[in-house]
Amino acid sequence: MKPVRIAIIGHGFMGHEHEKMLTKFPGIQLMGYADKDPSQLEDVTPGLKRYPSDEALINDPEVDVVLIAANNNQHHDLVLQAARAGKDVLCEKPVAMSLSELDDMEAVCKECGVKFTVHHQRRFDPDFRTAKEVYDSGTLGDVYTIKSSLYGFNGNMHDWHVYKSEGGGMLYDWGVHLLDQILWMLPGVKLKTVFADIRNVINFEVDDYFKILMRFENNISAEVELGTYYLADKVQDKWFERHWFVGGNRGTAYVDGFFPEGKIVRTSHLLENVSGKRTMTAAGPTRSFGPAPEGTIVTEPLPQVDTRHENYFENYVRAYRGEEDFLVKIPETRRVLRLMDAVRESGRTGRSIDFE
Ligand SMILES: NC(=O)c1ccc[n+]([C@@H]2O[C@H](COP(=O)([O-])OP(=O)(O)OC[C@H]3O[C@@H](n4cnc5c(N)ncnc54)[C@H](O)[C@@H]3O)[C@@H](O)[C@H]2O)c1
Repeated sequence: MKPVRIAIIGHGFMGHEHEKMLTKFPGIQLMGYADKDPSQLEDVTPGLKRYPSDEALINDPEVDVVLIAANNNQHHDLVLQAARAGKDVLCEKPVAMSLSELDDMEAVCKECGVKFTVHHQRRFDPDFRTAKEVYDSGTLGDVYTIKSSLYGFNGNMHDWHVYKSEGGGMLYDWGVHLLDQILWMLPGVKLKTVFADIRNVINFEVDDYFKILMRFENNISAEVELGTYYLADKVQDKWFERHWFVGGNRGTAYVDGFFPEGKIVRTSHLLENVSGKRTMTAAGPTRSFGPAPEGTIVTEPLPQVDTRHENYFENYVRAYRGEEDFLVKIPETRRVLRLMDAVRESGRTGRSIDFE
């Protein structure tokens, strides 16, 4: 079958990541790169095209899909240009800097009859899929809390990521992934209220810390917290921490690391409808934080999930051929952008925001 011929605008960090994955990807032919900084094209894999401009790439008749991996503030114009040239478009996250940009992009792609989707490959992250599998299985009973956190140690942001006008800041960078994961984990569940604390800990213009609390209509409260500037003295090769914590009335799941370790913890002595009568525990009369009676705590392994970022492009190829839907739908990305607006409003006003 004819491969999907993809050319990429932007040969920076993400452009290189795509190159590693797509040079030998079944069903895809990587055609080449354009970058506004010619020095960025020097190490493009031999055999791939190095286009002299974005226009040359977009107008190459051998290209089916333009993948946009340039700075966030470039997405809008590049999506429009590619669509108007009749190319299908795959855009890096965050798809746009605002809802109105996304409205434009969607309208032009529709008018030009081209396919349009967004690279949210972190829906295939093993830690996320593990937490989602635990949640979906119902093994924790009624889940009441989900926490997703990512902490960078001794880190700082760089290049355009520190400038507002370029789409910098951690909410655009990682927030968009972390929020997309939570919303995709709870499909069809309305998000009622949002409260957020957003800070510039060491950056002048853009956020480098946020804590976001979300209350869903099914009574789950979800918390997403990210910080890039936690200081640690014994980090060595561990320069970040990633955690999920999922609490239900029949168990608790701990999921730690991008390739997660962890456990599900339960008790054989489930406390339901506690009578209020004093009972004796190992710590004396019952205490909220007392140790459980000996032998009652049971741990189980986390489920094994089979998931890789390649799964994103496997879906892309099948969907491109019309065999299934694209995994990432534009209304989903719009909901994430709307949520990010609510997060900013809450951060600014210090109030919780009614969302849906
Ligand atoms: N999906 C993911 O996991 C993931 C990870 C990292 C970055 N990204 C996204 O990828 C995009 C690029 O981020 P990055 O970290 O690779 O940045 P980067 O700075 O490393 O690379 C961006 C490249 O785009 C080039 N560029 C900028 N404007 C251009 C234009 N108009 N035409 C041609 N080239 C242009 C720059 O010269 C640079 O080489 C961003 O939207 C970012 O959010 C996604």
